[in-house]
Amino acid sequence: MEAFLKMENITKKFGEVSANKNINFSVAAGEVHTLLGENGAGKSTLMNILMGLYQPTAGQIYLRGEPVRIDSPSKAVKLGLGMVHQHFMLVEAMTVFENIILGVSKDHAVFIKKDRMKKEILALAARYSLDVEIDKPITEISVGAQQRVEILKALYRGAELLILDEPTAALTDLEVEGLFRIIRKLKKENKSVVFISHKMREVLEISDRITILRTGETVKTLKKEEADADGLANLMIGKELVLSDYKKVASSKEKVVSLNGVCYQKSSKHSGLNDVSLEVGKGEIVGIAGVDGNGQSQLAQLLTGVIGPESGEVFVKAERISKYAPEAFIMKNVAHIPEDRNKMGLIGNMTVTENLMLKRLKSDEISYGKGAFLRRRAMKQSAEKLKDKYDIRCASTEQETRNLSGGNQQKIILARELEENPDLLVAVHPTRGLDIGATQYVHDAMIASRDKGCGVVLISADFDEVLKLSDRIAVMFEGRIVGIYPGENPPIRDISLAMAGKVE
Ligand SMILES: Nc1ncnc2c1ncn2[C@@H]1O[C@H](COP(=O)(O)OP(=O)(O)OP(=O)(O)O)[C@@H](O)[C@H]1O
Ligand SMILES: [Mg+2]
Repeated sequence: MEAFLKMENITKKFGEVSANKNINFSVAAGEVHTLLGENGAGKSTLMNILMGLYQPTAGQIYLRGEPVRIDSPSKAVKLGLGMVHQHFMLVEAMTVFENIILGVSKDHAVFIKKDRMKKEILALAARYSLDVEIDKPITEISVGAQQRVEILKALYRGAELLILDEPTAALTDLEVEGLFRIIRKLKKENKSVVFISHKMREVLEISDRITILRTGETVKTLKKEEADADGLANLMIGKELVLSDYKKVASSKEKVVSLNGVCYQKSSKHSGLNDVSLEVGKGEIVGIAGVDGNGQSQLAQLLTGVIGPESGEVFVKAERISKYAPEAFIMKNVAHIPEDRNKMGLIGNMTVTENLMLKRLKSDEISYGKGAFLRRRAMKQSAEKLKDKYDIRCASTEQETRNLSGGNQQKIILARELEENPDLLVAVHPTRGLDIGATQYVHDAMIASRDKGCGVVLISADFDEVLKLSDRIAVMFEGRIVGIYPGENPPIRDISLAMAGKVE
């Protein structure tokens, strides 16, 4: 098969760090080629080079057999390349239509042209069954819909090769099926796809070939038929991965948190709480299962003091909460692994040390007087300890966190939140976007906290994760808790039905 794309001996250095080392990678027309590798292995970097966002330190790219120099994203688009980035790049204040035509037409005054473009876009959307509401602002559509907009945008610009960088990390199972239908349609039209994902099941389902990267180097390229989940995992991490199996525990009499008939915007099915009652015992993990957007975010916000209930009460360690503010919850020793680590968990342009010490910075421990210099040194020392203990891989603790890979960013949050032995941990999608090794690390850390007596509320759209970790499982549907089930030998069918709102 003639390669549509060939990347030859690609090397990329960021100062001391070699993100890509002599990588060889090719994609045929009509092929889905997956890039697999741990967090920080260099997947996004390689694709950002292809899209003209970075210049390679060395190496050569060929398209349709011809050597090319891709010195800007617009050049990449001209050459028929399109990318849906790991973090979407849509302009939130603009509508779907405005985002899709952004940069295509400089001639804004011509309404007839816009009219024609809209028709073309709608026809394209229909052809690929990309269901989008073209005149809605980006802020009003779901994450899945935003992704369809990104795909449509790339196709409208004439992409022959589409790069999907972790497209499924924030999608529901149903949305993943929809995405796979689109990918299969692209294949039929002889278009190429580069797919990036940490989920083995998906990788094995959709790929024709799989290339594994480890610490910036190509380890191996396999045909789908040659691959299986365990083998891929071992190639990725370079050693055998032993999966943990966790024991389930009984609920303690002592409660760390109790919700009593809590309501918040209860008429809103997708962002409200309707008469929610729930208790979490000391040393117990209660998993919240459910399709995203059934009140889970509001439950997490309530448990961390971001919002307060309109009626009903909340008790933390038997004490009734009267003040709903994040600081008040932090003072009650409530820890939080937030939904969106980039928006809520870390401050990207602060260093690893500063991010690790964020919570302590707020307390009186840090003074800005004569001792400030010594304090900084002490801070750096404790950061170094945490870096080792939580296996945070970074060039230095003085590095800004925004350039760290997803898994290492999450470990910083984990270190900061778990180190103080919290009484309650509210963990929201704690392993979203993490590789297998990092996921296992986070799971082990959560179980260790539980075993030290921490009560955990685990909110996750990943059903397997909920089943694996939870001592009890509560199902949320349209703002209500519709059922509570044991974590030991869970009745999976009943739980699945409850997640779809079907409770006998
Ligand atoms: N702009 C940058 N400046 C400095 N270092 C960077 C930059 N971008 C990436 N890196 C480093 O390059 C390495 C590869 O990062 P990259 O984002 O390509 O990994 P990845 O395989 O996409 O990981 P993930 O699965 O977490 O998305 C990491 O060590 C990262 O810290
Ligand atoms: Mg990446």
